[in-house]
Amino acid sequence: MADEKKLFKVTIDNITVDVEPGTTILNAARKIGGDVTPPAMCYYSKLQGSGGKCRTCLVEVAQGSTADPRPMPKLVASCRTNVMDGMVVKNITSEKVIDARNGVVEFLLINHPLDCPICDQAGECDLQDLGYNHGKEGTRYEFKRRTFEREDIGPYIQLHMTRCILCYRCTYVADQLTDNRVHGILDRGDHAEISTYISKAIDNDFSGNMIDVCPVGALTDRTFRFKNRVWFTKPVDAHRDCDKCCGKVVLWQRGDEVLRVTARKDEWGEVQTIDGKPGWICNTCRFDKKKTSDWTIEGPTKINRHSVIAQGHYVGLQKPKEPLFDVMGGRHPKLMMDIHSISDVNKVELSELPGPATSQTFIPNKENGIEIAKDNNT
Ligand code: SF4
Ligand code: FES
Repeated sequence: MADEKKLFKVTIDNITVDVEPGTTILNAARKIGGDVTPPAMCYYSKLQGSGGKCRTCLVEVAQGSTADPRPMPKLVASCRTNVMDGMVVKNITSEKVIDARNGVVEFLLINHPLDCPICDQAGECDLQDLGYNHGKEGTRYEFKRRTFEREDIGPYIQLHMTRCILCYRCTYVADQLTDNRVHGILDRGDHAEISTYISKAIDNDFSGNMIDVCPVGALTDRTFRFKNRVWFTKPVDAHRDCDKCCGKVVLWQRGDEVLRVTARKDEWGEVQTIDGKPGWICNTCRFDKKKTSDWTIEGPTKINRHSVIAQGHYVGLQKPKEPLFDVMGGRHPKLMMDIHSISDVNKVELSELPGPATSQTFIPNKENGIEIAKDNNT
């Protein structure tokens, strides 16, 4: 009999879950889901080595393990800290965590411009969501923000370094998905910037995935830029036979026009796992197949109802089914009182009942001013 793996019990915000040894706190929290899961701006489960850069996923470890119940002295990055058996973690139940996360967001926004109204990423930007949840109304920063010129890196991708939060995800895509990597992070500290090797174009079949992993609007699709706001588009799942990638995508349509093509995302904003592998898509599917006739349409993409994209209601209003017709054996609910049988029940001839008064049948009552019907059946 195969040895059964011993699972570790970890409690996050008072919810206990069993996970395999080696699981990070963040992934244990993702197993629970909902608000218990810390936000992650740099960790990306499909990119090896990602995480540990942005500190948005900080949590408090109130008990290290059953064997050593001492708390950890400082907040830890949940994407880089593995669970121990009996560990107790606090995320939204810890004031320290919320305070630290507010501080991290303030730091992330020191250089990031607040230009959501004109940014192409608005509506699907992780930093925008984080800013709404943890941001302050004002800034304490008095210095000039870093600004950069926009740079086209190849025919399909534009880099606007001003918005970059240096999460390193795009460099992991370049390292792990493309050959001949030509871009990376140059310099360190507040001089650090994404750059290509002497402005060399990124020309690789899978380079477009950098756009999908960028959590902000620093890397955008040049074929889609400023064509539409994302919440006015209709996302539709579609597929095609592709010899380079899985060929399973989301088409973002306006009417019948395909405005852009992206990989399919999961609930954490990462590319979905399709047939056991990350569903990265190639540049041919992303940039060259912009007609609905290129694709087999599967149906509307499921969008989280909290997302602004869901506000398009493109699936149509789903009215609940009226159960009364079934209960009434197909008869109209108006017949529920069975009005036609009242006379049967009371044995009253309906025509004998007094009807409403007419001008011929009114008798004015001089005392109280009320007019009454004399006999309206005559
Ligand atoms: S360009 Fe985007 S993906 Fe790349 S490091 Fe900056 S924020 Fe991250
Ligand atoms: S997601 Fe953990 S440090 Fe960025």
